[in-house]
Amino acid sequence: MDTFISHSAQETVELGERLGLAAQRGWVFALSGDLGAGKTQLVKGIARGLGIPGRIQSPTYALIQEHLQGRLPLYHLDLYRLRDTQDILGAGLEPYFAPSDGVSVIEWFERWDGPPPALFCPVGLQHEGGDLRRIQYDLPRP
Ligand SMILES: Nc1ncnc2c1ncn2[C@@H]1O[C@H](COP(=O)(O)OP(=O)(O)O)[C@@H](O)[C@H]1O
Ligand SMILES: [Mg+2]
Repeated sequence: MDTFISHSAQETVELGERLGLAAQRGWVFALSGDLGAGKTQLVKGIARGLGIPGRIQSPTYALIQEHLQGRLPLYHLDLYRLRDTQDILGAGLEPYFAPSDGVSVIEWFERWDGPPPALFCPVGLQHEGGDLRRIQYDLPRP
């Protein structure tokens, strides 16, 4: 587990960019943390690292946003509006927990208590006051 202390939204985007550059087919970035913790900022960086142009917005209403213009397809999910694993399965989102051709990044992963993805990249984001955020993450071993 690595810990990154972010002092600004930009530093969080930069960490995301490094994660996006490292990302491999099948990886699932599992983001947990309160509203405003910086999950969507991190997704912006991951998308940038994958070479995806354009804006990233939280897919809160759509549940999933697909970005197909980068080095690998990026599937951006936001589970905020779903209560639990049952709801997630009911919404047909299970395939995104094992993306065979691309990378998933899942906001509000704490809604899921099924088995962890095979190529699991847990990321926890915590407010530490003001613009400070503590970001703890783990990447799959090669
Ligand atoms: N260190 C930081 N990292 C990320 N976001 C930050 C940071 N400091 C301030 N912010 C602000 O906090 C908000 C985070 O929003 P967002 O990424 O949408 O959160 P979430 O998706 O976790 O609800 C943004 O308005 C951003 O500008
Ligand atoms: Mg968000």
